[in-house]
Amino acid sequence: MVSNKETLYEAVERRIGALTEGETDPVALMATVVCELHQCLPHFHWTGFYRVVGEAMLVIGPYQGGHGCLRIPFSRGVCGAAARERRIVRVDDVGQFPGHIACSTSTRSELVVPVLDREGALRAVLDIDSNLAAAFDAVDERWLGRICERVGRQWG
Ligand code: SME
Repeated sequence: MVSNKETLYEAVERRIGALTEGETDPVALMATVVCELHQCLPHFHWTGFYRVVGEAMLVIGPYQGGHGCLRIPFSRGVCGAAARERRIVRVDDVGQFPGHIACSTSTRSELVVPVLDREGALRAVLDIDSNLAAAFDAVDERWLGRICERVGRQWG
């Protein structure tokens, strides 16, 4: 397990803040966040955003890792659950999650964080997958929640 998560997140959050200061373009924000997170957190093997497009549908946004599913309806998968319920969903063992969408067979655990804009509208979800079982904990939830709050606040 990653022992120095707090230190890594502290540094990555500060860098994201500096890099995206004043930026309101959603793609620029999402691409920068994904790049920084994916390179800095060793337990992430797929890191990406799905954007809310149309009626109850998520469409792939900026990501790093192997190819992801292009579209996920709100009714499916961990991403769909996070979008539907507008809350962070953490899955320690994806094999136990009914309706999990397996884009990669190596994925063992997953964390999905919603992005709400200043008006409280759901704009996207941040999906993080790990090859390790139970890779995510309350520390990941807190920092990724903060980072997604920033993306939502700046979403233009
Ligand atoms: N695992 C996700 C699907 C997205 S891919 O893994 C990138 C889910 O069940 O929502």
